[in-house]
Amino acid sequence: MSTYKLLLLPGDGIGTEIMREMEKITQWLTAQGIIFFETETDLVGGASYDAHGTPVTDAVVAQALKADAVFMGAVGGPKWADVGFANRPEAALLRLRADLDVFANLRPAICYPALVGASSLKPELVEGLDILIVRELTSGVYFREPKEIVTLEDGSKRATDTQIYTTGEIERIAKVAFELAQQRRNKVSSAEKHNVMASGILWKQIVTQVGKELYPSVELEHVLADNCAMQLVRQPKQFDVIVTDNLFGDILSDVAAMLTGSLGMLPSASLGNTNPVTGRRFALYEPVHGSAPDIAGQNAANPLAMIGSLAMALRYSFDRGDVAEKLEKAIINVLANGTRTRDIADGAQAVGTSAMGDAVLAELQ
Ligand code: NAI
Ligand code: MG
Repeated sequence: MSTYKLLLLPGDGIGTEIMREMEKITQWLTAQGIIFFETETDLVGGASYDAHGTPVTDAVVAQALKADAVFMGAVGGPKWADVGFANRPEAALLRLRADLDVFANLRPAICYPALVGASSLKPELVEGLDILIVRELTSGVYFREPKEIVTLEDGSKRATDTQIYTTGEIERIAKVAFELAQQRRNKVSSAEKHNVMASGILWKQIVTQVGKELYPSVELEHVLADNCAMQLVRQPKQFDVIVTDNLFGDILSDVAAMLTGSLGMLPSASLGNTNPVTGRRFALYEPVHGSAPDIAGQNAANPLAMIGSLAMALRYSFDRGDVAEKLEKAIINVLANGTRTRDIADGAQAVGTSAMGDAVLAELQ
């Protein structure tokens, strides 16, 4: 069996605490011979700025380009509020995403049975919920030019952002969505605004074409993005995979996230093209939450989003859906046993970050 190289970038704040818990699991999996991981750990974000004067060094980017998968904890914090725009810790994330060209951002929204009560929706609407949002991450209105604020002759200003999507960009994200749907419940919902946007017309056309030509057995529906937002809070279980652009995906994935309760529970994956060095897709795994400076260093952070990101890596980078399922089952069982970090305790007795990690490990064993 081959050994996979993981680059771990814990980052700042609770990033280091949650990464430690994830590493307990990679070490155990390796020791058991279930899957072999070799890890390398480096600095990113504010920690990198303090040591090297930049939020991510070229050396770390080079390591990331050779790794089988990259894991990020979280970056940022008040300490680096005044380092300037280019040096802010979050710039590291943007650089890594851009250099790995991880264009497909996967955010599952899974409602754990034990946490049904934490959702903002009625239990019957979220019980058993398991949807996956696939957001285009590297193009669209957040990235395309012109992007500017200009002063006009009369002294007033004009701001421009530009929404552009090409056939190639839509094709590649659509393929990812269809492939994932095939591993799930075989349904893709494509969200855009073809009624008012040219990019929406092309999006709908290309997704339809990719579906017809390459994935005829996957059910495809088109849904206007605003209606999609409404449906997510009305009847979320109608969805399996939702594929959408960068802007709508930003919003829809946050809506979907809150259907499931706590920020500390939400993993994510960002996938790119096949890396010629590894033969696997470029992949960056990270929790959705940030560095939580308010609870950093207190052994209070919930490590489950980070551990859930490892489960995603097992499934999407290493083709070990069997191990991913075991790990996810361990998380479900730990929660069912009543083990809670403070963020999901709802007033009940809470355990610390390391105890939660240990509980997942014990459950795996
Ligand atoms: P945040 O996600 O760090 O925290 C928001 C709230 O959720 C806080 O009350 C925090 O204690 C809680 N929380 C977050 N993750 C948790 C966990 N695993 N367990 C328990 N509670 C958790 O967002 P915030 O406060 O807006 O940002 C803090 C810093 O993180 C900022 O510098 C921000 O720029 C950065 N950030 C970094 C991200 C990343 O690295 N991907 C993403 C979002 C924010
Ligand atoms: Mg967002």
